[in-house]
Amino acid sequence: MSSPQPLLGSGVSGTELKTCCAATYEQDWVAALLGDSYHPGGAALTRDLANALQLSPGMKVLDIASGTGTSALEMAARYGVHVIGIDRSPTLVAKARRRASEADLSGRVRFVVGDGEMLPLAGESVEAIVCECALCTFPDKPAGITEMARVLCPEGRVGISDVAVDRESLDQDLQTLEQWVACLGGACSITGYAQLLNNSGLHVQRTEDRREALLDLVERVEPRLKALAALGLPGLPEIDSAEVDRWMTVARDAISSGAAGYCLLVAGKPGSH
Ligand SMILES: C[S@@+](CC[C@H](N)C(=O)[O-])C[C@H]1O[C@@H](n2cnc3c(N)ncnc32)[C@H](O)[C@@H]1O
Repeated sequence: MSSPQPLLGSGVSGTELKTCCAATYEQDWVAALLGDSYHPGGAALTRDLANALQLSPGMKVLDIASGTGTSALEMAARYGVHVIGIDRSPTLVAKARRRASEADLSGRVRFVVGDGEMLPLAGESVEAIVCECALCTFPDKPAGITEMARVLCPEGRVGISDVAVDRESLDQDLQTLEQWVACLGGACSITGYAQLLNNSGLHVQRTEDRREALLDLVERVEPRLKALAALGLPGLPEIDSAEVDRWMTVARDAISSGAAGYCLLVAGKPGSH
């Protein structure tokens, strides 16, 4: 399985990684860079995931690492489901709650501060789970997936979209703390994620290579990153246009060589006997 965790064991604890990750995604420059959806493929990929999960009105859905709430709100509005969004960042949870209220969806969508590795939910309490571009940042991925299996009802489904890497071919520059937060440093291969799901008793039903979504994201953020870097926004690491060019070349090369990509996985929980 390709799930090495190079930063763990080098003085950075799992809790520090999670705190750093949540704090980064709270920054205004991240919203300016990524827009509302903090994952490659945006709302279109969320709909693909929702269709694969066969969401139908009234279902109870959990969105793990729900960020600003975009996917939870999209699923509630489009599929008529009830959604609980859980995120480790109180700032993002507050923002997601505001957006739910503005969209008049507070009756069907609620957001809670919590850790995906220790879900604050009872066993067998949700019928479907989505987790988009977040499992890659979990220091303890087996714990996160065991939690998914615990809270899911028998015959429920989990849909994950996430960064996938071939760690042996991944440039060393893409394996730093910053890259962990940016999702590459802690990601698994597609087979690595599938193995983790199967190990937790969830049966993988579908895996899809969606690397083009990551490439699209790189193309979309490049000009925005240059503009933001020129503005020197608070919290944004100091970076000049030449450095942005260098990073984007490293990222494009990694995607085109297959060292980095994006994937979609669907797994089901067996029925009770
Ligand atoms: C790349 S963003 C994705 C957000 C959202 N799923 C989306 O696609 O728009 C990663 C999110 O994971 C959250 N996060 C990271 N580690 C977490 C954990 N252990 N438990 C819950 N949320 C976590 C961060 O706060 C952030 O909102």
